Amino acid sequence: MKITAIVGSPRSNGNTSLLVDEALKEVAGRGLETEKIMLGEYQVGPCLGHENCPSLSECLQKDDVPWILEKFREADGIILGSPVYYYTITAQMKAFIDRNYFLYTHGIPLKARCAGTIAVAGGAGLERTDRDLRRFARMMTSLPEEKVVSVSGYASKHGDVKSNTSLLEEARALGARIVEMLTSPDTAPIP
Ligand SMILES: Cc1cc2nc3c(=O)[nH]c(=O)nc-3n(C[C@H](O)[C@H](O)[C@H](O)COP(=O)(O)O)c2cc1C
Repeated sequence: MKITAIVGSPRSNGNTSLLVDEALKEVAGRGLETEKIMLGEYQVGPCLGHENCPSLSECLQKDDVPWILEKFREADGIILGSPVYYYTITAQMKAFIDRNYFLYTHGIPLKARCAGTIAVAGGAGLERTDRDLRRFARMMTSLPEEKVVSVSGYASKHGDVKSNTSLLEEARALGARIVEMLTSPDTAPIP
C-alpha cells in the first residue's frame, strides 16, 4: 500500500514539507510505502479552461501534471499539504487542484481510501485553507468526513515548525491514523 503526499509549498524543507515528512515517516515506520511530490519542483501549469476534456484522451497542457495525477490516482491514501498564502492555498496547489478536472470530467475516481490534509499559516487564514484542502480531498475521493484527517498550525520563518513539538506530534498522529484507516477491517481492500 502506498501513501502519496502532494505539497504546495515552493520551499523545500519548509514548514509544510517538514510536517508532511513527519507524517510520512510515521507511515513508513508502520510498513507502508510513501512518496512526496513537491509541486514547486515540477512544471504544473494552470487549467486552460477549454472545457473539452471529455473529448480528449490527454490534457492539452504538456507538463508534469499527467504523471503526478497518475500517482495521485493510484495511491491507497493521499496527503495534501499547503501553506497559507493570502488566506488560502498556494498557487501551486490551486493549479494542481484545477488540473484534477481532467480526471473529474472523465469520471476517473481516485483510489484513495483515506486522506490527510496539512496546512500551515504565519498568522491568519488557517481555517479556510484547511476547509479548501478537505473539500477537494472529499470531492475527489467521495470519502466521508471521518476518513479525512487534518492537521493545521502556525509557523512563519523557514523551519520554524521544528520547534513546535505539539504540531510535529500531530503530524505523526495523522500518519499513524492514515495507516490505521488503511489497515482496519472496514477499509482494507477485499482480497
Ligand atoms: C506570498 C505569501 C503569502 C502569505 N500569506 C499568508 C497569509 O495570508 N496568512 C498567513 O498566516 N501567512 C501567510 N504567509 C506566511 C506563510 O503561510 C508561512 O510563512 C508558512 O510557514 C510558509 O510555509 P512553508 O514553509 O511550508 O512554505 C504568506 C507567505 C507568502 C510567501
